[in-house]
Amino acid sequence: MKQLYLALLLLPAIGGLHAEASDKVSAQQFVDLQQGKTAFAGFRRAHAKGLCVSGEFRSNGNLQSYSKASLFQPGTTPLVGRLSIAGNNPAAPDLKAPVRSLALSFSLSRTEQWRLAMNTPPVMAVADPHSFYQQIQAIQAGPDAIKQFFAQHPESSEFLTWAGQYQPTGSFAAETYNSINAFYLVNAKGEPQAVRWAMQPTVSVAPGNLQGDNALQQEIATRIAADQVVFDWVFTLADATDDETNSTKAWPASRQQITAGQIVLTGSTAQLDGDCHAINFDPLVLPTGITATADPILRARSAAYAESYRRRAKEQRQGALQESSNE
Ligand code: HEM
Repeated sequence: MKQLYLALLLLPAIGGLHAEASDKVSAQQFVDLQQGKTAFAGFRRAHAKGLCVSGEFRSNGNLQSYSKASLFQPGTTPLVGRLSIAGNNPAAPDLKAPVRSLALSFSLSRTEQWRLAMNTPPVMAVADPHSFYQQIQAIQAGPDAIKQFFAQHPESSEFLTWAGQYQPTGSFAAETYNSINAFYLVNAKGEPQAVRWAMQPTVSVAPGNLQGDNALQQEIATRIAADQVVFDWVFTLADATDDETNSTKAWPASRQQITAGQIVLTGSTAQLDGDCHAINFDPLVLPTGITATADPILRARSAAYAESYRRRAKEQRQGALQESSNE
């Protein structure tokens, strides 16, 4: 049962669209399903509850020969980020969310941005958008349907193993955030190297006796006010036998790993007052030196994030958040 609950992954939205899933699921269909019957106007349709963070990436130069992205030269690059929980409700209780997330945005130059959105699971349950849409429908149909769904999708096994053993920590600072999807690093010679990455915590925090709907938000705001919060940015390099287009399969633990430096968070702000609120953390916004793989989930994500952004931006223009931001 715990596995089924955790399998909600990104999507605890209830209700929503019951249209037949076609082979090509549109961004509108995804967002209709994720937002549920009554959308929370002005907010993200997934990962609606979060807070803005700021800080910098301190690069040690270890990835310079793999990627010509200026970010990987030794030095620091400022960042705007967002810590969030999965789900469509901006007031959801922090500790009930099955997935925690970190999104980052870097401005590399006047014309170059890199946006990253990462989750606590290392893999997805399914490898293509159509199956993911059906997974959400099965979740919404109830425990029997999702049990049947997983029985028909043996590729979910690594995700279910993770979900069965995952222990939430007592802080956003103590989680590992995974790219899940793979990308290519591209060096000055134009050579691609398929990678996945993880932001690995440098502290461990037991769940302890956190309490209240905003327990994680309060904990991280207090922690950042007292001291910086640091993650190691660790890349895993695929070899020629690994499939970079299938996000349900982890690569073997023996693959080479390179730590590119540290993500350091030094500030936090409520999301409605912060710089992250107006950012669409589209994973296909990439700088020179990073390119997308053919993983079909990436295209679906990009389209769905744009649709979610379009809806919330329109609602904000119509005044949806004025009342709450004045509180
Ligand atoms: C087909 C698969 C997926 C769909 C349709 C989907 C859909 C969405 C949507 C609609 C949003 C709200 C975007 C916004 O309004 O700004 C969102 C946010 C997010 N998604 Fe996904 N998602 C998918 C897969 C993933 C995966 C694999 C990851 C992790 C690697 C992920 C991580 C996130 C994060 C971290 C956010 C919040 C970003 C922020 O703080 O603004 N998603 N997703």
